[in-house]
Parts: sequence; C-alpha cells; structure tokens
Amino acid sequence: MGSITVLRMGHRRGRDDRISTHVGLTARQFGADRIVYSGEKDSKMLESLRDLCERWGGDFDVVYREDWRTVIKDFDSVKIHLTMYGLPFQDHLDDVQSDLDADGDMLVIVGGEKIPKDVYDLVDHNLAVGHQPHSEVGALAVFLHDFFDGDELGQKFEGADITVVPQEQGKKTERPG
Ligand SMILES: C[S@@+](CC[C@H](N)C(=O)[O-])C[C@H]1O[C@@H](n2cnc3c(N)ncnc32)[C@H](O)[C@@H]1O
Repeated sequence: MGSITVLRMGHRRGRDDRISTHVGLTARQFGADRIVYSGEKDSKMLESLRDLCERWGGDFDVVYREDWRTVIKDFDSVKIHLTMYGLPFQDHLDDVQSDLDADGDMLVIVGGEKIPKDVYDLVDHNLAVGHQPHSEVGALAVFLHDFFDGDELGQKFEGADITVVPQEQGKKTERPG
C-alpha cells in the first residue's frame, strides 16, 4: 500500500482551528499518512495536532506549505479533489485505483470556505461524495473509508502513550508499556 497525503486548503487562523484539526485527525484515523495544510500558517494548531498524534501513536505527519499549487503540481501520482461538483466518487474508485503509480501514492485535496477555480484543472479527478454541500471532514472520511474497503479501521498506531480499552459502557483507557 502506498502513501496517502491529504491537502487541506484555505485554513483560516482562529476561525478554522477546530475543523482543520478534525480534518487532520480524520485523515489519520482513516488511513492517510500525512496532512499538508495551506492557507494561513497556524503554528499553534499544527503543534497541538502534532502533540495529539504523538500521544495516540503512529507515524502521521503534519506539515504546512504556503503554496498549495506547488504541493499539487509537484505530486507525481494520482490527485483527487473532493468537491460536491465532481463526479460520484463511488462510480470512479476503479479509475482511481488504476491511475495509482507503482508505489500506490495518492493526494486527496479538501477545501475550506472558498476553492480557487484552478484546483479543478490541476487534479486528475474531481469527485463528489453526494452532490449536497456538507463538510471536508465528512467527505474525507467517507472517501477514504470506501477506498480502503473499511480495512483502515483495523490499523495499529504504534508507540502510543494512551489507548482505548473498548467497553460496552463508560470510558476506559490504558497506558501501554
Ligand atoms: C464547506 S465546503 C465548501 C463548499 C464550497 N461551496 C465549494 O466550493 O465546494 C468545504 C469542503 O468540503 C468538501 N465537501 C463538501 N461537500 C462535499 C461533497 N458533497 N462532496 C465532496 N466534497 C465535499 C470539499 O472538499 C469542500 O471544498
């Protein structure tokens, strides 16, 4: 399996902290390897997301790049933009699979409030998760979950300081090691 990078465009400091953090955590839980933020640089949000990822384990990378166009142009495997205006993603997952390079790398782009028009031309596939407006978090989760056929939910996050002990009721965590 290749490496999956999520590009979250258009972050706004202050207004988007929570949703941008949730895009990162969702990318991590649903099988991505890395998130790249563009928009306003927000060191506080980046650091708190990195801390969270470190505590909960795994190798998820959190980075900032001012120039999102370069991130897209320099990526040399398949590039997917999730947008309500795209083609139904469920009908095009086979095309995505066959466009993957030998390493199986993929860039998945989600937007914020406003999406610059040229994104549509810079990618290989503009795909919709339904054609109603919802959210970058929901679109990303559903797309990755289907892409991995649900297998990503079984991934292990090595080196965690804290893990959940699943319970029928109540909340239990433990500190492994
Ligand atoms: C708040 S929405 C922005 C919607 C905006 N009107 C637009 O230009 O698409 C933020 C992001 O959520 C994702 N999104 C929202 N609804 C979607 C859908 N139905 N299918 C795929 N992605 C969606 C897109 O990545 C979008 O850029």
